[in-house]
Amino acid sequence: MQSWVIGNWKKNPATLTEVNELTSAIKSKFLQKQSSQDFDSTCYPQLMVAPSTIHLVMASQSLEDTNILVGCQDISAKSATIGAYTGDSSAQQMLNAGGSWTLVGHSERRSYHRETEDTLITKMRFAFEQGLGVVFCIGETIEAYDLGKTIPVLEEQLQILKSLPNLNEFFAKIIIAYEPVWSIGTGKVPSIEEVEKVHQAIKQYVTGINASLADAPILYGGSVNADNADQFAASKWVDGALVGGASLDADKFLSIADSFYQGKQQLNG
Ligand code: 13P
Repeated sequence: MQSWVIGNWKKNPATLTEVNELTSAIKSKFLQKQSSQDFDSTCYPQLMVAPSTIHLVMASQSLEDTNILVGCQDISAKSATIGAYTGDSSAQQMLNAGGSWTLVGHSERRSYHRETEDTLITKMRFAFEQGLGVVFCIGETIEAYDLGKTIPVLEEQLQILKSLPNLNEFFAKIIIAYEPVWSIGTGKVPSIEEVEKVHQAIKQYVTGINASLADAPILYGGSVNADNADQFAASKWVDGALVGGASLDADKFLSIADSFYQGKQQLNG
């Protein structure tokens, strides 16, 4: 299976100049890698960056002649196209601006914007209608983790996939990102054994919803950095990483990609 390394830039960086510097650095380092004689494109992860909406056009223009994808962090739940919704940007507009995927269900949006299950379902539906892929983020709080309730909490979050019409048509456009809330931005990560157990449970649960979801990549996110990526990359249960802080540094981002590249080469034997 194709692995993925996705940078969620959140509300960073501050200026267009910095966006340009970051995309240029990622691009030149990636192209250098790609042009090396022994580059094996079948094992190299698919890269994607998800800038702020205001930076989407610049990032996608900067990366348009590469196969690095650009995603967005959010889409409107009010309409898939245009309309009188002050402050919103629609799936249609994101696609037109160069986005090809959107995050849905990130814990920061669930908690700071009180996004409900209905909102998440609507966003996924709008994304698929317009041709965007969805990186569906799920994760348990520290309280749920401490109570040993991680898997039931994740199943509860995943069950909304049952409400999506025509899921069969879209299975190739769903990535699941397991991001424990307590791990995001804290430097704390679950053990690889815990992550593997959770990813296996996710796969089993989503396959029960729809057999075609057996092939949905399952990424880990939460304090992934250049120093700890190897352990995730070496696991056959981890199909990539959703990276926050470390994705704002081109060297660290590409180093995480390298970990998954080497991990995949080893797994492929
Ligand atoms: P950090 O990598 O900064 O912990 O953020 C993870 C995340 O929220 C990615 O979506």
